[in-house]
Amino acid sequence: MPRLTVPEAYAALEAHRVAIRARRTVDLFAEDPRRFDRFHVRLDDLVYDYSRNRLTEATIRHLVDLAEAAGLAGKREKLFSGARYNTTEARPAMHMALRAPTGAPVMVDGRDVSGDVAAERAKCDAFAEAVRSGALRGATGKPFTDVVNIGIGGSDLGPAMAARALSPYVRPDLLLHFVSNVDGADLADTLKNLDPATTLFIVSSKTFTTQETMTNAASARAVVAMALGEAAVGDHFAAVSTKLDKVAAFGIRPDRVFGFWDWVGGRYSMWSAIGLALTIGVGPQHFAEFLAGGHDVDAHVRDAPLDRNIPVLMGLIGVWHRNVWGYAAHAVIPYDQRLARFPAYLQQLDMESNGKSVHFDGRPVERATGPIIFGEPGTNGQHAFFQLLHQGTEIVPVDFIVAAEPTAADAHHHNLLFANCLAQGEALMRGRSLSEVEAMLAGQGLSREEIAALAPHKVFSGDRPSSTILYRSLTPRNLGRLVALYEHKVFVQSAIWDINPFDQWGVELGKELCNRLGPIVADPQASLDGLDGATAGLIAARRGLQAC
Ligand code: F6P
Repeated sequence: MPRLTVPEAYAALEAHRVAIRARRTVDLFAEDPRRFDRFHVRLDDLVYDYSRNRLTEATIRHLVDLAEAAGLAGKREKLFSGARYNTTEARPAMHMALRAPTGAPVMVDGRDVSGDVAAERAKCDAFAEAVRSGALRGATGKPFTDVVNIGIGGSDLGPAMAARALSPYVRPDLLLHFVSNVDGADLADTLKNLDPATTLFIVSSKTFTTQETMTNAASARAVVAMALGEAAVGDHFAAVSTKLDKVAAFGIRPDRVFGFWDWVGGRYSMWSAIGLALTIGVGPQHFAEFLAGGHDVDAHVRDAPLDRNIPVLMGLIGVWHRNVWGYAAHAVIPYDQRLARFPAYLQQLDMESNGKSVHFDGRPVERATGPIIFGEPGTNGQHAFFQLLHQGTEIVPVDFIVAAEPTAADAHHHNLLFANCLAQGEALMRGRSLSEVEAMLAGQGLSREEIAALAPHKVFSGDRPSSTILYRSLTPRNLGRLVALYEHKVFVQSAIWDINPFDQWGVELGKELCNRLGPIVADPQASLDGLDGATAGLIAARRGLQAC
């Protein structure tokens, strides 16, 4: 059969949706006792279950047709070839090179980068070991007890998320801190209980121009100079960047500068020297396991057939929900407290990548692109926004993420945590019908009038889709797999939508306007002429509040 075009593949999916829309997911389970077996995929000790989504084997075939129509396999090969996939910045997007096994050649833009990657990793590992062993000390001769990473966006979210996720692997006498916000409260609150003499700062910024990071770095520098003297600064700072000239201008010693490359996107950079604070905390061996987990998924996404390929399925099921059913949001709920920052990390990964409105060639997209990503750890989310997930007018597909075994936590607690995770997925899928509610209330002895008044409030429509990622425990390797699964999911969706997931021009306008407004905000006498009404009004109101 000739390959479908993308519009034809979407039309087939729409017709298929109409054909199955009356079939409830619970009925699909009842009809097929092997449904769970059919609709889950394993990758070593990680399980991806998608059986609780309203879909059939025909749905997956239609979605794979769409992937073929969109040229997913060719785009994936182009990405992995190290070609300039990111066309608007004329760069490859080859973060996979950072987690390839040492020694294996990896081509980026026609050049084998494996030697450069290995050399930079060896430098980071040696530095991390020196800090951990106490061979490297602060200006007063004391070993470091605290490491403060100063960075934002991709230079913060990934390492900060991972430091929390892997906290059982972090040395208790070497605490990691992350400062990102230009709000001075972030730095002040972090430094409040730290001794500058035992604190190492790592300034992490791909561009080394980001306003927030440069402002925080300058303030941290002033704190060290004030506490220990100007000559001590060099002993308390390191930097990670692609712009080594700019780092040199900031005054950080060359032997404490760690590089990476413009073919590593900011939100894909935690595998590079941007993971330095994490490497110091968990040690080079655990960081290497994290990298290996990422590589496991690179191999899987390249080799597994599309209908048994976890990131491909995650991406395609997301497209099914976003474009065919019209669901605008997607919740990611880790039943793993140490993944508390995972939703925030994913917000940048997914929304900065796929929050786009034009195709590669600049034409406006015809269909919705990236969904709104949000989440909180379970069980906390259950007592916050789950009401809307169960009974709201928006349908929000959910990813549940849960470990089979706790890491350094109580087994009894973990049983309850796991049961909660399962129960939420079941409740979302099963729902509760009006007749079930009426029977339940009658059983509680309520009158007919009371039942009629109360029953509609207790009905759950059900058929609210969810998937579950289950892994043995939150080891560095499984964390690496988790992160890479979502990276490739985002890529798969971008390929279907034919958008560039590796640029982020949408963040520029706000930065430009802030640069223009900065001096006006700082100067109480500055003219407000030419500003829009709301901006001028708010600045004037602020001046009024400051004056009283
Ligand atoms: O928010 C825009 C952005 O460019 C992100 O893509 C990036 O991760 C972040 O700023 C930080 O950039 P840098 O690492 O250059 O300081």
